[in-house]
Amino acid sequence: MPKQNLQARGPVDGVLEGHAGLRVDGERLLGRLEELGKIGADPAGGVTRLGLSAQENAAMAYLRDLCAEAGLETETDPAGNLLLHRPHTRRGAAPVLLVGSHVDTVVQGGRLDGAYGVIAALEVLQVLHEHDVDLPVEMVAVAFANEEGALIQTPFWGSRALCGSLEDGLAAEDRAGRPVSAYLTRAGGSPERLQDAAWPPGDIAAYLELHIEQGPSLERLGVPIGVVDGIVGRTILDVEVVGEAQHAGTTPMADRRDAMVAAAEIVLAVQRAATERAVCATATTGYLEAHPNVTNTITGTVRLTVEVRDTDPGRLVRGEADVREECARVAAASGCTVDVRASMRSRPVSTAPPLRDAVRGAADTLGLAHLTMPSGAGHDAQIVALVAPIGMIFVPSKRGISHAPGEDTDPLDLVHGANVLLHSVLGAQAAAADRI
Ligand code: GLV
Ligand code: MN
Ligand code: MN
Repeated sequence: MPKQNLQARGPVDGVLEGHAGLRVDGERLLGRLEELGKIGADPAGGVTRLGLSAQENAAMAYLRDLCAEAGLETETDPAGNLLLHRPHTRRGAAPVLLVGSHVDTVVQGGRLDGAYGVIAALEVLQVLHEHDVDLPVEMVAVAFANEEGALIQTPFWGSRALCGSLEDGLAAEDRAGRPVSAYLTRAGGSPERLQDAAWPPGDIAAYLELHIEQGPSLERLGVPIGVVDGIVGRTILDVEVVGEAQHAGTTPMADRRDAMVAAAEIVLAVQRAATERAVCATATTGYLEAHPNVTNTITGTVRLTVEVRDTDPGRLVRGEADVREECARVAAASGCTVDVRASMRSRPVSTAPPLRDAVRGAADTLGLAHLTMPSGAGHDAQIVALVAPIGMIFVPSKRGISHAPGEDTDPLDLVHGANVLLHSVLGAQAAAADRI
């Protein structure tokens, strides 16, 4: 398809005219979320649909089937991202308004984190298609692959690849050291052409992402829509504590180099970085493995991950420095060696004011109250923010629960959020066209 001639497609300001009454099909949206939640449903509770696993592949296949039924087209890019578009849109034809999220989960996560944003993006695209809405800046929906990094240890895998910031992607692996390439091939991606997943600069006019809040603010205040103004940055540290595995009954307490005890000190120090010392917003030890993990042997090695988050770049750096100092202190005191390696750093970002305005305008059109707020969770949007203006919409999470089986949102709020996304796509046309 040749590059679109925006002038020939009518004035951008006229896009909203005649479409104020447009709404998503709420039952279709909720039904699809229900179906998608069955893919990777974990017998132990929640959904385990890890990025680039067979379950994520099945979720992508489900989306492809929905698109085929709806007369929409799909393509899987070399990084395993799924792009959904109307038949007349070809990737690379013109800068587009990209809208999406991810369909992978953490281990025993919820059915809405990411999935909601993708199913809603598909719903919006389908409504635009069914009503033959002519957009000056065409919309493309995306299901980014492996946002969580729970299996292949590279969070934001798909958005990084699409935005050209996936450095050394083929070095990524799972915790057992199996390389990403075989996973990627099974996902319909292409290890040999991974670099080709990157879109040329300027091809994304703007990006919108709808997501559950994953925290308690909106529910507590009784506000249905969050207008995100910024997203936290995050640093992940891989920490290896090496002591000496020895007999638990015969080794005198004073002679031990117990990696488990040293790791316990580190876990507490990490928590204190964000409480007593308050150098960063949050600090978490979420993963820990002990070797040999035997009842009557002193632990020889512990591997754990530490992540620190903050919306302020300086505090993010201080959080990492603080954890490193504490690790050095524990090493000196315990006689264990403590190796700290940063495996990921994502920057805090701001959303674009014109896109915030588009979201506020959409909520106003629909008569929905809104609150401007930061995001404490990471999102693909923060990667896209490095190459294009972004906007994000939140809906309430019941009791603020997320990354856990109890993750839930009132169905009415889910439908409201999707309608806000639809009207944000219409309302963001002027902001997106300004970039072209
Ligand atoms: C993304 O899911 C995050 O961990 O914030
Ligand atoms: Mn998540
Ligand atoms: Mn998410």
